Amino acid sequence: MNQKIFTDIMREYEKIRLMNNSIKNKRKKKLFELNPRFLQIENELASIGIKISKAVLNHDKNSLQNLQSQNQILLKEKNDILLKLNLPQNYLNVYTCHECKDTGYVKNKKCKCFVQKLIEKYYDLSNLQNIFETENFDMFDSRYYPKKCYDDDDKTSYELINRVYEKSLYFVNNFDNEFKNLLFYGNTGLGKTFFCNCIAKEILGKGKTVLYVTAPQLFKIMESIRFDKTDENKDEYDEMIFNCDLLIIDDLGTEFATLPTQSELFNVINTRMLARKPIIISTNLSMKELEKQYSSRISSRLIGNYQLLKFTGEDIRLQKKFGKGEKNNFT
Ligand SMILES: Nc1ncnc2c1ncn2[C@@H]1O[C@H](COP(=O)(O)OP(=O)(O)OP(=O)(O)O)[C@@H](O)[C@H]1O
Ligand SMILES: [Mg+2]
Ligand SMILES: [Zn+2]
Repeated sequence: MNQKIFTDIMREYEKIRLMNNSIKNKRKKKLFELNPRFLQIENELASIGIKISKAVLNHDKNSLQNLQSQNQILLKEKNDILLKLNLPQNYLNVYTCHECKDTGYVKNKKCKCFVQKLIEKYYDLSNLQNIFETENFDMFDSRYYPKKCYDDDDKTSYELINRVYEKSLYFVNNFDNEFKNLLFYGNTGLGKTFFCNCIAKEILGKGKTVLYVTAPQLFKIMESIRFDKTDENKDEYDEMIFNCDLLIIDDLGTEFATLPTQSELFNVINTRMLARKPIIISTNLSMKELEKQYSSRISSRLIGNYQLLKFTGEDIRLQKKFGKGEKNNFT
């Protein structure tokens, strides 16, 4: 692993632990003022904890039983005090991530929060917070989409975007119990990236790991995993691309497509599909162009196994710039 990134992340955990510890100490102090017996119990529990470890080491079953029952009694007394004070039982468990207790590791494996930190470091997603301020479901405005049909569609641009909106919300709300992949397609400036960001924000908010990459970025990374044997970040990239909870590939079709990149793309799509880990793809290509540009192994998987969501209408970037939206489409 890249040593600098690793050290940075460990330092962040250190800071988080310090911060949480100081909150914990303040709470302890408050508890002590409210009920002095509480601190006494804490100390007794700590010393029993040490005695229990010793008894385990010495295979001293009798003492162990005795100590464990003392432990139970103290825990109950402690919980009763908290209950009386109307405080939650975990009042003193102050952690930002309860899974790894802010250590970054669960049983020697990287915790989800660690992987998310890695993602943020590699892709400098710090800017994401700014993006999320303007690109989120609350900012969705259907008035940019004319009540008019495009191409040979039997649905208006307005109807199609409402469908995108509904399906995207559905995707977010059922993320944990339903495996689904989405494919956003349509011309430039119609909100494909906007919807990718709306969804990313919500899924990140659920404490999941989300990796957002553009197709050219993805292929650059895949290339370095495959060919650059010296790249020390390989394992992390691999882990992020294949194991993050949600992978978003924006702008598919803008990369320089070669045979090796195609097989990499196939590998990502297929491996994640087998592991039931979702991908959202956005592209400017029509389904016909998609079939032309990619091997049938790829295009048939995309067309067959992804929910296809079409965007039509008039470039929102231009509408915003020239204030067209308000004049022409807003009713
Ligand atoms: N439904 C919407 N409501 C309000 N603003 C939107 C909506 N959809 C998109 N926008 C805004 O319109 C602009 C263009 O949208 P976006 O970048 O998502 O288009 P795109 O389809 O990804 O285009 P491209 O194919 O060029 O990447 C952005 O500034 C975005 O914030
Ligand atoms: Mg885009
Ligand atoms: Zn964690």
